[in-house]
Amino acid sequence: MTAITIRRPDDLHLHLRDGQAMRSILPFTAARFARALIMPNLRPAVTTTEQALAYRKRILEALPQGMTLEPLMTLYLTDRTDPAEVDRAKASGCIVGLKLYPAGATTHSDAGVTDIRKVDAALSRMEEKDLVLQVHGEVTDPAVDVFEREARFIDEVLAKLAARFPRLRIVFEHITTRAAAQFVQDSRPGIAATLTPQHLLMNRNALFAGGIRPHHFCLPVLKSQADREALLAVVASGDPRFFLGTDSAPHARGAKEAACGCAGIFSAHGAIELYAEAFEAAGTLQTLEAFASEHGADFYRLPRNDGRITLVKEPWEVPRSYPFGAEEIVPLRAGETIGWRLADVADGGSRPEGVSR
Ligand code: NCD
Ligand code: ZN
Repeated sequence: MTAITIRRPDDLHLHLRDGQAMRSILPFTAARFARALIMPNLRPAVTTTEQALAYRKRILEALPQGMTLEPLMTLYLTDRTDPAEVDRAKASGCIVGLKLYPAGATTHSDAGVTDIRKVDAALSRMEEKDLVLQVHGEVTDPAVDVFEREARFIDEVLAKLAARFPRLRIVFEHITTRAAAQFVQDSRPGIAATLTPQHLLMNRNALFAGGIRPHHFCLPVLKSQADREALLAVVASGDPRFFLGTDSAPHARGAKEAACGCAGIFSAHGAIELYAEAFEAAGTLQTLEAFASEHGADFYRLPRNDGRITLVKEPWEVPRSYPFGAEEIVPLRAGETIGWRLADVADGGSRPEGVSR
């Protein structure tokens, strides 16, 4: 197959940052996706409905003329999140969930949850109001092997959480292991997972190919080939509980190429193309559309997008860097090629009010 046309996709896990940095990268996502779930790990964190609505407005204002993207918002859950805030979030109509970052698990997670019991009241209100919990699923104990943190989180936190709040809908974000895939497949209704392009395309050898590769470092960290194969098997199965969330997480070059480089891979410049490459290599291009454009919308109870995009199998060279505010960013595959190219976007016309500029 040399070209595919699919329903316009949604990116259900995206870091946009803010200000000039956001302005630099937002067009990459808007060119490909109709909607994106915007992660709240700014500094300060987006913990209130008021902050989320203001952030959403800044995103819409940062869109270049003629481009559209509907930002779906999520609040940063903290030890102090008041159940009344959950009510306000629901009432806003623009906020689809709250994000659980175990304190210290990843970039800008220091304001996160220190003990899951501290958020019981908020979780119970979310269950009642049907807001989705997005979970960064890693334990934070520095004594636990970094490659084991996701599997340990399932046993120590997530399985119990899913049982204690039986109607709470949960997205296990950016899963990386066979254990996580298995957990979602075996779980009760209302549990789903997002998968990133990097975890479908690479295993942990990519962190050390010819030397240490800071631009392949993200959290959860890349895992073994056996884990990667388990992720490819679930996308090939067409299981509707698994859907697209890039976790594109830009950091300026200097923050990555450092003695203590930060976690995050930028993939927005070629996100859907990278997924197409991964799916094609796994012989499952026929399940790409449902994964990218149907399962996530269905889980979030949003209408599927009307538009279409066309991808052609035509390699293109990724620039060595892109501007990122006053700095620059090194994208995934910098100076190398991506095997698929975005050829056409038809946005299908109807946009929700207030979304286009
Ligand atoms: C993310 C970031 O940079 O904000 N980094 C990452 O490695 N994925 C945070 C996150 O989603 O864990
Ligand atoms: Zn993320």
